[in-house]
Amino acid sequence: MARKNIAAGNWKMNTTIDEGIELALQIQDGQRNKEVVIILGVPFTHLYPLKRKIKASSKILLAAQNCHHKTSGAYTGEISPLVLAALKIPYVILGHSERREYNHEDNALLSQKVDAALEAGLKVIFCCGESLEIRQAGQHFSHVKKQLSDSLFHLSASHMKNIVIAYEPIWAIGTGETATPQQAQEMHEEIRNILRKKFGKRVAENTSILYGGSVKASNATVLFSQPDVDGGLVGGASLKSDEFLKIINSF
Ligand code: PGA
Repeated sequence: MARKNIAAGNWKMNTTIDEGIELALQIQDGQRNKEVVIILGVPFTHLYPLKRKIKASSKILLAAQNCHHKTSGAYTGEISPLVLAALKIPYVILGHSERREYNHEDNALLSQKVDAALEAGLKVIFCCGESLEIRQAGQHFSHVKKQLSDSLFHLSASHMKNIVIAYEPIWAIGTGETATPQQAQEMHEEIRNILRKKFGKRVAENTSILYGGSVKASNATVLFSQPDVDGGLVGGASLKSDEFLKIINSF
């Protein structure tokens, strides 16, 4: 199986640049698991200084937490995917539930952002996941399927090589309440089935699907041992180097 195990941190709007450098260097110095791809999703301001500080040999990669759907123009306060690509930032996180909620990013806009990011040469960590109301109504599978189909189904199988999917149930993000390993596995299996039907077996088998939502050192091993869970997108617990290093070593 070619798909990679990934431990991705999502720092959100946390850390100053100095704190971020300290945290990234602690992770770099402490990490021994060479089989895991480590991605740090950091604020835009941190990308350039971290790029300069992190050793190429450390296997730590950087991600932006968003980008615009146009490559340039009169969009005050926005960041072009071309600027990220020119900085040699390999990944961008798109569709995080916080951006969907607070910045009104919908599936159609995300489809355009995915295109702009891929065209610029970035890889995309595409987030999906349902609210508590949707889960309680039993509509979580159809909700996630719509998020994937509306924003990714126009892509080709070869584009899909540059997509990582992060399933993040909103009710588990920052709440301390984690999906059970069974809940994570059944959704990840469903996502892989959706990918298989649309893009074929090879894409389904090769796409890394991460779980996000209150991942911590104490639950990472059991979550990551599920057959369709290929790692995590970790918020709060990625801000403490010792905790995140334990998560990295949970595969
Ligand atoms: P959390 O955040 O680990 O703090 O729940 C996950 C995320 O939002 O990516």
